[in-house]
Amino acid sequence: MSGTKLADEIGTTRSEVWRLIQQLRQLGVDVAGHPATGYQLRAVPDLLLPDVIAPLIQGTLFAKHIHHYYKIDSTNTAAMEAAAAGAPEGTVLFAEEQVAGRGRGSNAWASARSTGIYCSVVLRPALPPAEVLILSLAIGLAVHSAVREINPGVSPDLKWPNDVLLDGKKVCGILTEMNAEPTRVRHIVVGIGINVNQTSFAADLRDRATSLKIATGTEWSRVELAAALLKFLDREYRALLQAPRAAEPILRRFSQNSSWVRGREVTIEENGDFTGTTDGLDERGFLRIRTGSGVRTVLSGTVRAT
Ligand code: BTN
Repeated sequence: MSGTKLADEIGTTRSEVWRLIQQLRQLGVDVAGHPATGYQLRAVPDLLLPDVIAPLIQGTLFAKHIHHYYKIDSTNTAAMEAAAAGAPEGTVLFAEEQVAGRGRGSNAWASARSTGIYCSVVLRPALPPAEVLILSLAIGLAVHSAVREINPGVSPDLKWPNDVLLDGKKVCGILTEMNAEPTRVRHIVVGIGINVNQTSFAADLRDRATSLKIATGTEWSRVELAAALLKFLDREYRALLQAPRAAEPILRRFSQNSSWVRGREVTIEENGDFTGTTDGLDERGFLRIRTGSGVRTVLSGTVRAT
């Protein structure tokens, strides 16, 4: 398309079009040509843009308030601020790149540009804080379903509470943060980081992290996966809020899709490490560990293979 036509369509000048094209290229959009020849979009960019995602998730809780950032510190930080300022339930923040992506504990989350999905959603469930763990287990199930919808040949493993693994390495992490009173949740932000098309990781992550591309050998559409993710999040969330005994099927499905929940020798890094064998989830979603001195219940902390 010629620069003049583009300029007419968006009501600007040809030189402004040239400036915008340069900016798009810097953001990774593959545009060929120059002012004399006109421009050609070589490939539809796999960007998590609201106009692209919204039509794919019509009817879900998340279709109406999607925000997209090319670069941000952390979508979770921004979503917590937005939630405190009154952002509606179902608000979604996507980023192409995070410069201060946060993981659980004090870990960082590697968030290289346009290779992963970095997403945070704002929820306002009428749940007591004690039931939020069940919600975060359900989010892991939503990621599991989304990945399998795009490629049914992939079988991710869920590691309590919130990791999704492929080939024993982490492909997705979930960071749930909340603002609550003792008996009532004000808002929750669920942050989901999925390693999608990374082809390598920094030396300190290489042994522990993988991506869908590394695990399957093919490039994945982030747009398709992000849409599937929001669709399954919507499904899990509604089911959890609507059914009075919704925790039971969530715990059952989590256990079915996890090689970690039962019979696994693990070390728990809590306040002081201890080792034992996993012995299922209790009715609140906590992990039971059989140790030499009896069964212990893990309320938080990191589970590692011994
Ligand atoms: C973990 O440590 O396993 C949790 C990682 C969560 C990363 C996601 S990426 C989107 C959102 N924004 C953040 O800063 N963190 C979460």
